[in-house]
Amino acid sequence: MKEVKILTTLHQMQVSEMSEAQRELVERAKQMVNNSYSPYSHFQVGAAARLSNGQIVCGSNQENAAFPSGLCAERTTLFAANANYPDAAVEALAIACYTKGHFTAEPGAPCGSCRQVMLETEHRYHCDMQVILYGESFCYVVDSAKELLPLIFVSDNLKG
Ligand code: THU
Repeated sequence: MKEVKILTTLHQMQVSEMSEAQRELVERAKQMVNNSYSPYSHFQVGAAARLSNGQIVCGSNQENAAFPSGLCAERTTLFAANANYPDAAVEALAIACYTKGHFTAEPGAPCGSCRQVMLETEHRYHCDMQVILYGESFCYVVDSAKELLPLIFVSDNLKG
């Protein structure tokens, strides 16, 4: 038997340490919590994606009385980006979470399904997606969605 360790690198930083482009994306994600439709969880999530064509596409979580019919902010954003600009890669995605009157102190962690969709987008465009997770106390930045979901399952795996 052999033990395999998988190392993930997260860059922990303050918004003040980010590039102007990163700060802009975080700001857009923070604004987007206002468009969240979350009457059930009262957990508002905003996301903003920077595309290779220069566009910024935004989204927020959209809930539903039939709970599983709702969708997270990351997926509304990525699907909107891919639906409207199918030829543009997603170069960066920022996420911010707001509940009980303030942004979360710690960076919001994308759910597993959103991580899987991020990977598909990276794989589809052959382009790493920088993921910026905003928190009031500190932020995490990863250079690729692969850092958030090792042992990826993408179309290559279907080939057997
Ligand atoms: N949510 C997101 O939008 N993104 C995530 O990655 C985690 C969870 C939403 C889904 C639901 O509307 C609410 O947050 C509570 O789970």
